[in-house]
Amino acid sequence: QSYKVAVVVGSLRKESVNRKAAEALTRLAPENLQFEFVEIGDLPHYDEDVEAAGAPAPWTRFREQISASDAVLFVSPEYNRSVPGALKNAIDVGSRPYGESAFAGKPTAVMSVSPGGIGGFGANHHLRQSLVFLDMPVLQQPEAYVGGGYELFGEQGAFKSDDTRKFFQGFIDAFAAWIAKTAA
Ligand code: FNR
Repeated sequence: QSYKVAVVVGSLRKESVNRKAAEALTRLAPENLQFEFVEIGDLPHYDEDVEAAGAPAPWTRFREQISASDAVLFVSPEYNRSVPGALKNAIDVGSRPYGESAFAGKPTAVMSVSPGGIGGFGANHHLRQSLVFLDMPVLQQPEAYVGGGYELFGEQGAFKSDDTRKFFQGFIDAFAAWIAKTAA
């Protein structure tokens, strides 16, 4: 069986190592996973007054893309030991209106990538906490706190180290198995 996986990258910048990591994961994934990158940079800040007046087009577009997917993969940097504001906003947008969360029940996994040694642990865990509240089954193992992010990829996003490639392979294979086990 094949599954549609929405990919949400927490960084907005063009040369993002998190985006490179997400792209690398999609290239390693088993063929039964189809990926769609769902962009978050154009989402207005969540505001209940705006919701009441009528959802802006980017909110609707984002909600529809998440709703149409079977699973969601998050790859995010850490900002100030937490999730970047743009990503938190996307989660808030997708979770509403109340009772109509686009995320509910969808299998998910989190990878965090940082140039530092802690590998975005703080962001990763804050994000996991939100995903628990959103009632998404979160892949438990392997955890993916990827440090040394600026040394991972060479030309065209090729892995510089075989150990990194193997780690990414194990992660995406585990997520594929998790989706098969938990998807609606
Ligand atoms: C950072 N960075 C960072 N790194 C980290 O490991 N822990 C942190 O708490 C922070 N805090 C932080 C705050 C802000 C506002 C910025 C802009 C950056 C550094 C961050 O990991 C680095 O810029 C990465 O390259 C960001 O990921 P992308 O954009 O390359 O995917």
